[in-house]
Formats: sequence, structure tokens, C-alpha cells
Amino acid sequence: VEQGVIAVEMNRRVHSVGRGGLPNSSGQVELDAAWMEGSQLRAGGVAALRDFLPAVSVARKVMEKTPHVLLVGEGAEGFARQQGFRSQRLLTKESIRLWREWKRNQAPPGASGSGHDTVGVIGWHKGHAIVACSTSGLPWKLPGRVGDSPIIGAGLYADDQAGAAVATGIGEEILRFSVTSRVVEAMRRGASAQNACEGVIRFMIRRKPETTKAMVAVLAVRKDGQCGVAATCRGFSAYVRKDKHITELGS
Ligand code: GLY
Repeated sequence: VEQGVIAVEMNRRVHSVGRGGLPNSSGQVELDAAWMEGSQLRAGGVAALRDFLPAVSVARKVMEKTPHVLLVGEGAEGFARQQGFRSQRLLTKESIRLWREWKRNQAPPGASGSGHDTVGVIGWHKGHAIVACSTSGLPWKLPGRVGDSPIIGAGLYADDQAGAAVATGIGEEILRFSVTSRVVEAMRRGASAQNACEGVIRFMIRRKPETTKAMVAVLAVRKDGQCGVAATCRGFSAYVRKDKHITELGS
């Protein structure tokens, strides 16, 4: 799970995660990431983390080495340094170019033509779930803005007794609806993974019809290994790997 997330964090061509992720309105990259284990409900996260990679590994250390669940900003950076992570440059020539272009056009913070994705990975092995996610958040966001990804129950949730879920898309909408917690609770009540994901997306649209304009997707694995995915729009991709076989779940 960790290596899957790291591979995307290190890919400078992905403009919504890790190195190469688009910066906030001040031109700084601020990362959000989290990690959760379904056996004991242990979890760790970092928010508005500048200059350190992999953010998912710092999040995992928060769970393993502290009594806390979430560290933010300078506190998260100090913790990362103390744990032996080296500070590094997350901006790339391309992300600086895109930021300058945005500044020239004076678009409001959050405006982006480049889509907005979080990487999320759920691992299920011998009855145990681990889920992790990482993002550089909404492009051109206000400094200090935190999305759903490091928030347990919004961006991700895992409970071996029910299943696990991870979300991607516009964090404000995912936070407002505690999306992954709802999906896992639906599976606990007996819904299939697919029905749980679809049910929550439908509820969001019913309760707040403007949600159809926001990109939101959620994917889930139920405790029996069954998978599901649903979104407010097309454009997200989800894959399942079982043993050596990889299949696309939906896009
Ligand atoms: N889903 C990631 C974010 O909005 O920050």
C-alpha cells in the first residue's frame, strides 16, 4: 500500500500529488496524506506538509511513533525532520510554469483546468485492511487549506469488521459528507461495496444537488474482498489487483 502511494508521489508528471503537485496561491506545495489500519483502527496523518516526501510515510510514522492521529504544518515538518526525512524541493519547472500562468490570469483560488485527484490505495490481506492516500490538494488553494485526505472518515476509513474506503475529488464536498465513513458503515449494515459507494454518491446529490458539479469519487473493498466504485462524473480511474491480475474497475 505504501509503495503504491509513493510511486505516484514521486511521479513529477502527476500534478495533484507529491513532487510536481500544483502549489497553493502563494506558490508553495502543501501536502495532505493519511494511513489507517482496520485491525485496531490505528491511524496517522499529516496536513499542509511542506518540503517533505513521501508524505504517506510521514503519516504512517505519525501513527507508529506518536500518540496522535494528525500533525499539521510546521509541527508535521519538525516531526518529519526528527524521523530522518530530508527536506526537498517539491516544485518542478512545470508546476512553477502553471502557477505563473494562473497568477497572470488572476483566476480565483481553486480554479484549475487540470483536474483534481488524490491517490488512494486499499490493501486487503487475510482479513486485514490498510488504506492510505496522498494529495497536494486543490490547486491554488489558500495557504493552510486542508482537504479530506488526512481526515479519518472523510478521505479514508478502514475497519476489518466492515471494509475500507478511500475518496478522491473536491475535498470540501467529501468532508461535508464524511464520505468514507458513510460507505464503510453502509457495508457494515450489509450493503455490497458497489451499492455502498453508489448509495453515498446518490445521497450527496439528493441532499445537495450542486454536488453534481463537483468531481467526487469513492472506492471501497468490503470485508469479503468485494470491490465497488462510484463517482459524480467520469474521469477518475480505479484498478483492482488480485494476485498478478490487474483489472480496471471503472473510469
Ligand atoms: N481530495 C483532495 C483534496 O481536495 O484536497
